[in-house]
Amino acid sequence: MYNKNAVIAGIVAFLVICSSPFWCGFGSDSYKKPEIVTQKDKNKECVEDAAFMRAEHMQLLNEWRDQALRNGMRVYVNAKGKKFDISLQNTCLKCHNNYEDFCDKCHKTNNVEPYCWTCHILPKGSK
Ligand code: HEC
Ligand code: HEC
Ligand code: HEC
Repeated sequence: MYNKNAVIAGIVAFLVICSSPFWCGFGSDSYKKPEIVTQKDKNKECVEDAAFMRAEHMQLLNEWRDQALRNGMRVYVNAKGKKFDISLQNTCLKCHNNYEDFCDKCHKTNNVEPYCWTCHILPKGSK
């Protein structure tokens, strides 16, 4: 027989420690989450849901590029059947038109530096 009290104490300790994100920063929710500015029309949902986007937007963008360039597909249909134009500039960055405070802020916080902008145009200033 194991010691039931010790097991319970262990579980309690785990929960207490892990309720502090500082100590248990696993999972994608540990990203620093900057404020999001979106289009003001009814079209307020991201291409996919936020949790998916947080974890998978890089792969999604790769997919988009491949679809557009290799297969000539310019329309993306999401999990709910909604259609979006496949365009980094005209779709993603039209809603997220605050690149510096959204994409860039989070990337800097997480030490990522996408190399896309040597070719793709950022919305602010350059359009
Ligand atoms: C060396 C230049 C270059 C770099 C770097 C680059 N791209 Fe592109 N990308 C292109 C060109 C050229 C096209 C084709 C544009 C077209 O046909 O509409 C394209 C098309 C795309 C498309 C589909 C069409 C569109 O307008 O969005 C996506 C999505 C895309 N790239 C994502 C990315 C991402 C994400 C990165 C960074 C990780 C990146 N690209 C880096 C040159 C580049
Ligand atoms: C129609 C407007 C719209 C378009 C287009 C759009 N987004 Fe979003 N995006 C949103 C909204 C609104 C949220 C916040 C959703 C929430 O919190 O429920 C969001 C959330 C996100 C998140 C998660 C942020 C977080 O951690 O909470 C990422 C990453 C993201 N979008 C990237 C992208 C990329 C990359 C594209 C293009 C492939 C894109 N978005 C296209 C509106 C849009
Ligand atoms: C909530 C935080 C967050 C937001 C917001 C966010 N990103 Fe990211 N992004 C990341 C992280 C973290 C990575 C690195 C993931 C990895 O390497 O697995 C990443 C990686 C990428 C990459 C791949 C870079 C590479 O070199 O492989 C691209 C492209 C990208 N993000 C584009 C965007 C765009 C465009 C937006 C705004 C529309 C955006 N991201 C918003 C957190 C975020």
